[in-house]
Amino acid sequence: MSDTWWRGAAIYQVYPRSFADGNGDGVGDLAGLRARLPYLADLGVNAVWLTPWYPSPLADGGYDVADYRDIEPVFGTLEEAETLIAEAHELGLKIIIDVVPNHSSDQSAWFQEALRDRSKRDRFWFRDEPNDWQSIFGGPAWTQVEDGQWYLHLFAPEQPDFNWDNPEVHQEFHDVLRFWFDRGVDGIRIDSAALCVKSDTAFEDLDEVHDIYRSWRRVADEYDERILVGEVWLPDQERLSRYLRQDEMHTAFNFDFLSCPWDPAALRQVIGRTLDMHATVGAPPTWVLSNHDVARVVTRYGRADTSWANNDRKDGAETNLELGYRRARAAALLAMALPGGVYVYQGEELGLPEVDDIPDELRQDPMWTRSGHTVKGRDGCRVPLPWSGEEPPYGFGAGDTWLPQPEDWRKLTAEAQAADLGSMLNLYRTALRLRREQLGDGTMEWLDLGANVLAFTRDSGLTCVVNLGPSAVELPPGEVVLSSGPLEGDHLPSDTAVWLTS
Ligand code: NOJ
Repeated sequence: MSDTWWRGAAIYQVYPRSFADGNGDGVGDLAGLRARLPYLADLGVNAVWLTPWYPSPLADGGYDVADYRDIEPVFGTLEEAETLIAEAHELGLKIIIDVVPNHSSDQSAWFQEALRDRSKRDRFWFRDEPNDWQSIFGGPAWTQVEDGQWYLHLFAPEQPDFNWDNPEVHQEFHDVLRFWFDRGVDGIRIDSAALCVKSDTAFEDLDEVHDIYRSWRRVADEYDERILVGEVWLPDQERLSRYLRQDEMHTAFNFDFLSCPWDPAALRQVIGRTLDMHATVGAPPTWVLSNHDVARVVTRYGRADTSWANNDRKDGAETNLELGYRRARAAALLAMALPGGVYVYQGEELGLPEVDDIPDELRQDPMWTRSGHTVKGRDGCRVPLPWSGEEPPYGFGAGDTWLPQPEDWRKLTAEAQAADLGSMLNLYRTALRLRREQLGDGTMEWLDLGANVLAFTRDSGLTCVVNLGPSAVELPPGEVVLSSGPLEGDHLPSDTAVWLTS
């Protein structure tokens, strides 16, 4: 792969707790992932992004990092992580890891020291009086410590925010980046990237935050082909583009696309806006349908309101899963045909729905508790994957899984789908293979096939047509190489996508 592999990469997101369990304790781990690397290579992705794998009390699924230079013992060891990186490279897979710079764990050595010794508090955000900020998970963003001071946590109380006005924090993260780059990691996904710098009155997207990523880019550029990927939730495209300037991050997640309803006008607008914004800074767009923080796409697209917002999660809304599944198949072909990179969240390739009937007492997401049990949270998209067999744990591991799996996932296992040519898994496999040959980075041109149809041709000559209207439409001339569902002669049915060559 060239040194711009990332410009058109298909990146598979692994949530390690729920991917595969190698030691039978019901929690996913590195042994499980290592055993499944050939599955990912075979799927046809270019890279694997792992959400945090560090030692962590798991108060927020690992986004409460106690030690940035080691591996959570439940997942494995540092030595095993190095082996995993080498094995992935042998299979042609790049490895991207998550770095969490906005906050740490209250169990980290630095925070424990700060609790004991007031002179060590400047690495965090301690104040004598709290302000009125609310935590993103609900409830106040401040917690009082024994001697009366308060510390800031934009997320859970177990996640104290760093003070990025302190040069020691900058130094620490430069060292952490080098620690992992030295071990062969190819990229860093930067968690909550827009939140790190704060003033007394604001905490989102302050101009000074860019100094951090400029310096991180200099660190990445000390190595060959290492990339920075930003988790930047900003609706303002101009503000978002600043993170993607040539001397900052390489790419960012496209949350506009993920949040967009299944609607032709809205999607056309989001796609156009995305392309325009990225062109101004020369960065490749990315296309994201799901991740570990949002309801699964099959479920979202099966609802009457198909839009998504973090503060309007539509828990328990009535869902037509058959409709959602059909749309998710079409959406996959759309996302994979667009210019730039694409993300696949584990289980998306199996068409898993959101699990919305997890018993309340088993829910683990801090969103559930912090919201006073009003927001169900993100457990429903984090249920351990079904690999094989007829009943839970579906080959995930040997014992009970850390979140229960539905009884009716027998047909959704990777094994069952591998044997079914019409499965979601085989659609992803075929699409990812064709994508590697003919799509990815580059440009596109819109075709006008009416208001309900999204249609465009890519540099390679491949055309993608998606019908979002209520009735079938006539296909343009060309040979169909892949379709998300059955065609009606030379007509493309509703909620169906095709790829054509001329
Ligand atoms: C974004 C992560 O994706 C999410 O899972 C986490 O809870 C927050 N950042 C806080 O780290």
